[in-house]
Amino acid sequence: MNAKPSTALAPSELQSFWMPFTANRQFKANPRMLARAEGMTYWTADGREILDAVAGLWCVNAGHGRREITEAVAAQLGTMEYAPTFQMGHPSAFELANRLAALAPPGLDRIFFTNSGSESVDTALKIALAYQRARGQGARTRLIGREKGYHGVGFGGITVGGIVNNRKFFGSSMLPGADHLPHTLSIEHNAFSRGLPQWGAHLANELERLIALHDASTIAAVIVEPVSGSAGVILPPAGYLKRLREICDKHDILLIFDEVITGFGRVGKPFGAQAFDVTPDLMTTAKGLTNGAIPMGAVFASRKIYDAFMQGPEHTIELFHGYTYSAHPAACAAALATLDVYAREQLLTRAATMAPHMEETVHALKGLPNVIDCRNYGLIGAVELEARPGRPGTRGYEVFLKCFERGVLVRQTGDIIALSPPLIVESAHLARIGEVLAGAIREVA
Ligand SMILES: Cc1ncc(COP(=O)(O)O)c(C=O)c1O
Repeated sequence: MNAKPSTALAPSELQSFWMPFTANRQFKANPRMLARAEGMTYWTADGREILDAVAGLWCVNAGHGRREITEAVAAQLGTMEYAPTFQMGHPSAFELANRLAALAPPGLDRIFFTNSGSESVDTALKIALAYQRARGQGARTRLIGREKGYHGVGFGGITVGGIVNNRKFFGSSMLPGADHLPHTLSIEHNAFSRGLPQWGAHLANELERLIALHDASTIAAVIVEPVSGSAGVILPPAGYLKRLREICDKHDILLIFDEVITGFGRVGKPFGAQAFDVTPDLMTTAKGLTNGAIPMGAVFASRKIYDAFMQGPEHTIELFHGYTYSAHPAACAAALATLDVYAREQLLTRAATMAPHMEETVHALKGLPNVIDCRNYGLIGAVELEARPGRPGTRGYEVFLKCFERGVLVRQTGDIIALSPPLIVESAHLARIGEVLAGAIREVA
């Protein structure tokens, strides 16, 4: 345990900030404060070094303190701190959209800017619904998500999401008519798979069952994460995403990939769509887009979808949707500089090179007390611990805490520990992460 609180703030000064996705009282009794960051490392407010094994929150893909990015943002703020993009424009918004279109799978080259992953998801769902109406299929209003899916915290996102705690408190405010595919996590069949699990592609056929139940003519879109992060790293069984694509094509249903964590190099290609060789109709992104430096998200839409809106009189607004800060100049500057770093250092494919090291790191944990699964893909790793009877999540939290005390930041979801380090990670960092995690797991046993 932390004997000394790692903050200079008095307990009374910690009360006003209502912290997101945090056990506020537990945190405020024993706070963990980060004060500085560079490369792979955070420093706490009391000067301890913390190796970042989660890229902040799956977003700092190029590592911390990238001067190119902060200088680009500072220069933009000095030139023009804000410009509207409703009936107005500024050049870097168009430049960024072009750069993103060039990076995306062919055809996904129409870009709508948002400020977060949640906004990207709600934007994509709205585009899907409006698209169906624009092409004369206005009865297609149903959205299909997946159990254990995480699509942010907007009402659209929690409707298609499948994590019970994110939904149960807001039940009566869900969008009507949504349904869910089964999730693809199976410890029984796939425990300790290296890379994509081999069992479970058939779970995509459940979409046919939902279509038989609701009829395709009522379904607008299916949304899934190519790899789920927030629910504790759930990988697509080999062939699963391709099968989903086939079924969506057969029934003329849009397929949305939520690439908020898989986008920008996490799985060894710029996007999961390329890594898994399946092109969706819409793709949601955020996080790595700006290396986490400035909030920003982007929705990639197919030409077919965009063109369906570009009908009717030219003076009419085609999509009644947008944010004051869509394509904010400082965010565009951050994103353009981030894309430069990614290109110069070839970071968007580095996860493919480093994947074997991640695989070794997590699978070395097999056999430690309570470890019931280790899984990995690209620069994503996870270890799942058996839950204590009646006290789920406590073991995972204690492991997270021990890792932090020993200088490694991991992410805990229930009894699952996830690793998603910056893409600049070296094998020596992974070795250290593995060693600290193993020690913590042993000790918490
Ligand atoms: C797949 C996915 N979608 C959406 C989100 C929400 O992003 P944000 O927290 O930026 O709203 C996340 C965040 O982790 C995510 O993993």
